[in-house]
Amino acid sequence: MRIFLDTANVIDVEDRLITKVISGVTTNPTLIRKNGEDPDVVYKKMMDTEIEDLSIEVKGDIADDLIANGIIYNRQFGQKATIKLPCTPHGIRACKILTSLNIRTNMTLVFSVEQAILCSLANATYVSPFVGRLDDIGEDGIALIADIAEVFCHNRSNTKILAASIRDPLKVGLAFAAGADICTLPPVVFDDMFKHQLTDAGLKQFAVDFGINV
Ligand code: E4P
Repeated sequence: MRIFLDTANVIDVEDRLITKVISGVTTNPTLIRKNGEDPDVVYKKMMDTEIEDLSIEVKGDIADDLIANGIIYNRQFGQKATIKLPCTPHGIRACKILTSLNIRTNMTLVFSVEQAILCSLANATYVSPFVGRLDDIGEDGIALIADIAEVFCHNRSNTKILAASIRDPLKVGLAFAAGADICTLPPVVFDDMFKHQLTDAGLKQFAVDFGINV
């Protein structure tokens, strides 16, 4: 069970690293654009933190370009770089080849068990089902995690399930219960995982009992 942060903002990451429970970061072109900095600047700053696993989406429509760009990031950042690829025929081919070169891969924009099977057959390190975007269209994102987990378990797949597009803390527990190996979370959802009214009330009472003025 691992937690990644889903953000292109390095301060958001640094602020939360003190917890020591975050082991990776995922980015995508939309998060990078919203952050406003050059993508390579963002990746370099992330690599300078203690994060060991950074998903970097590569440009390209054809496998050769995806592979070439993946190799460039791997040479630049070494084992910390995970190459994020689309679940298309070219993305799947690129995944198989990058994995054979010992480069970690994260197959993104996965919305069905069939797509997840293709990713596993391409020896993807991670498959990223998008829970929230399925919920947005009236489907059940958590059920997809459970279905993929069942297929991967029966077939002894080595591909890890990275639950993405998680917008509320309750979904974190549900995703892990359904069989996710990793959840990638917007920083605010990570922060919300700490919150419970009984924790607040209990801490307040303990502070009083310690003799601390609150
Ligand atoms: C992570 O890899 C995804 O890009 C991200 O979780 C998508 O989240 P969204 O559907 O909220 O944009």
